[in-house]
Amino acid sequence: MSTFNAPKGTYDLLPPDSATFLAVREAIARPLRNSGYGYIETPGFENVELFARGVGESTDIVTKEMYAFETKGGDRLALRPEGTASVLRAALEANLHKAGNLPVKLWYSGSYYRYERPQKGRYRHFSQVGAEAIGAEDPALDAELIILADQAYRSLGLRDFRILLNSLGDKECRPVYRAALQDFLRGLDLDEETLRRAEINPLRVLDDKRPDVQKQLTDAPILRDYLCDACKTYHEEVRELIGAAGVVFEDDARLVRGLDYYTRTTFEFVHDGLGAQSAVGGGGRYDGLSEMIGGPALPSVGWALGVDRTVLALRAEGVELPLPTVTSVYAVPLGEEARRVLFAKVTELRKLGIATDFAYGGKGLKGAMKNANRSGARYAIVAGERDLAEGVVQLKDMESGDQAPVGLNEIVAELETRLG
Ligand code: HAM
Repeated sequence: MSTFNAPKGTYDLLPPDSATFLAVREAIARPLRNSGYGYIETPGFENVELFARGVGESTDIVTKEMYAFETKGGDRLALRPEGTASVLRAALEANLHKAGNLPVKLWYSGSYYRYERPQKGRYRHFSQVGAEAIGAEDPALDAELIILADQAYRSLGLRDFRILLNSLGDKECRPVYRAALQDFLRGLDLDEETLRRAEINPLRVLDDKRPDVQKQLTDAPILRDYLCDACKTYHEEVRELIGAAGVVFEDDARLVRGLDYYTRTTFEFVHDGLGAQSAVGGGGRYDGLSEMIGGPALPSVGWALGVDRTVLALRAEGVELPLPTVTSVYAVPLGEEARRVLFAKVTELRKLGIATDFAYGGKGLKGAMKNANRSGARYAIVAGERDLAEGVVQLKDMESGDQAPVGLNEIVAELETRLG
C-alpha cells in the first residue's frame, strides 16, 4: 500500500495477467500486418476541436466523456477518446493520401480515455487495437476489415461472439430517414432530455437502453426501408463478400453507434458472456469524416477492438492463451566469485535468445531456489566456490529434480541443446 491508488475507473496491468494483454494485442495486429496495414502512432492528446467536429458535438463522448483541458500555453486539448479522428488527421497532415496509393491502410494500438461511469468492462482508461483504410469506396474493403477482425478473435480461440451488421445510409438517404424518425419520436411520451436528443440526433434515441423507451420504439421507422439504391447495392455486396468468406453475421437494422461520423456499413462485435458492456469491438464506414475535419473527400472504413473487453471475453469463455515461458534458465550463485562467473553465463545465454534470470541480492541457496521455482524456469544452474574450483556448475532439471555437474565451458551449449 502507498498513499495513492490507481484513479477511479482505471486499473494496472500486472504480470502474469499482463502477458495476456500483450498476446491479445498481437493476435489482433497479426492479420492486419498480413494484409497491408502499416503501423501508425499518434499523440495521446489532440486539439479538442478535432474530436468535437469528428466524433460529433452532440455525442456523449464529446459532451460528457472527454478529458478536455487548457494548457498553460492556452491550447485547448483533449485526451483522445478514440483513434479514428486522430489517424485521419495524421494521414491528411502527412499527405499520405497524395502518395498515389489508395487506400492508405493503417493500424494502431494504444490507450484511450473516456470519463464514463465505471463498471465491469467500462473503464476511464482502456486500450484498443484499431485499423483504418482511408480513401477508397469499395465493399471489398469493408468486408476485408470485418473478416480480419473475425479472424483475430478466432485465432484467440473466442467462440461466443456475434457480428451485428447494418447500413446507416449516406448523405442522400439518411436525411430523409432522419426526418421521418423525428416525426415519429415527436409523437412519443419521452422526457425532456430525450426529446432534445431527438431533435439533435434522433438515431441515438434508438440506442436508448431503458425498457419504457424501447417499448415505444417498436414501430419506429427503420433505416433499411429508406436506403437509396446506391446504399442498398453497396450493402448487399458487403454482405455477400463476408458471407462468401464463411463469416457468420446478423443483420441488425437497429444498430447505431455512439459516434456521428458513420455512413453506410456499420458493425459491432458483441460477446454474450460480458453482461451490459457486451461490445468487444465496433466500426464502420465514415465517408464524410475527412471533409468534416477540413480535408478532401476521402471515403474510408475502419474498426477498433477493445483489448480490455477481449480479455474479459477470453476469461468468460475460459480460454487460456498459450503464453510463452517467461524464464527458461535461472542462475543461482553462491559467493562473490560465482556471482561474476554466472552473471557472465547469464549474459551469454540471453544473447542466444534463451530467457534467463539471476538470483540477485546475495540470497542464500534456499531463498534463491525458491525464486528459481517461482520463475517457472525449466533449469537452474547453481555454482559455489567448490564447483568453480572443479571447473563445473550444477545443472538442475527443475521438473525431474535431477542434478548433475556440467563443465563451465560446456554449460551454455548444453542448455542450448536441451532447450532446443
Ligand atoms: P467504439 O465503439 O467507441 O468505436 O470503441 C471500440 C471498442 O473500444 C468498443 O467496442 C469497446 O470494446 C472498447 N471501449 C470503448 N469504450 C470503452 C470503455 N470505456 N472501457 C473499455 N472499453 C471500451 C471507436 O472508438 C471507433 N473509433 C471505432 C472505429 C474505427 N470506427 C471506424 N474506425
